[in-house]
Amino acid sequence: MNNPFRPIGVFDSGVGGLTVLRALVHLLPRESFIYVGDTARVPYGSKSPEAVRRFSLEIARFFRRKGVKMMVTACNTASALALPELRAFMPVPVIGVIEPGARAALASTRTGRVGIIGTEATVRSHAYEGALKRLDKSVRVFSRACPLFVPLVEEGWLTHPITREVANLYLGPLLKHKIDALVLGCTHYPLLKSILRRVAGRVELIDSAEETAKAVRSRLEQEGLLLQGRKKGGVSYFSSDDPAKFARLGSRFIGGPLAKVQRIRLDGIDG
Ligand code: DGL
Repeated sequence: MNNPFRPIGVFDSGVGGLTVLRALVHLLPRESFIYVGDTARVPYGSKSPEAVRRFSLEIARFFRRKGVKMMVTACNTASALALPELRAFMPVPVIGVIEPGARAALASTRTGRVGIIGTEATVRSHAYEGALKRLDKSVRVFSRACPLFVPLVEEGWLTHPITREVANLYLGPLLKHKIDALVLGCTHYPLLKSILRRVAGRVELIDSAEETAKAVRSRLEQEGLLLQGRKKGGVSYFSSDDPAKFARLGSRFIGGPLAKVQRIRLDGIDG
């Protein structure tokens, strides 16, 4: 079980989790990763908690078969809804993105007024709020679902005036609450940083991707599973729908061409 040469499993509902993978590869270049994007069933953000749990457990079963040494739930929605089930099921540590994001927000806020943006399912779950309050009871949390951001990012409209207008509408009410830190609680939102920065002004943007990568590194260290040496790792990509489309869309998230993508068959998906 304690073999550090095993890969790390990273999953998301689609390509968005590649923002987390990118941060992981940057921080942990010696590690090998298996990335699964459940593109056949994306988005998770508008699905029921039961469906998100079932999908996440199917992917966990795949990681178990692959013998991963750690599982990273890069998807905020799956982290918000399925983490206890995944932890009970997996024989290895499971890291989500909520707790690292919450920690970073608390480290950054001076006023104790924190904003959260995410999918409908993430915001409805109050998972970020719960994580923040567990760490600091006095924090004030203001949340807002931003369902249009995911399709706008996937359309590539990262700096489009329409995206800016949508950002103004979503963030306006949060800014009225005088937040000074805003958690980007969805895999896609780091790609909107330049627009969000302009709209949010001096509010600190918290990227849970970077924080999650740091949490993974410290957990690997703790468990004695961190790979040492000079040899570079790599990534194997799997998607539950068209691999070519995954590679096309994914290259935008990873910031370069994607190596070969394989088709994964998950239980409950035909084809
Ligand atoms: N990956 C999802 C998240 O971070 C966004 C896309 C979706 O709704 O599936 O919440």
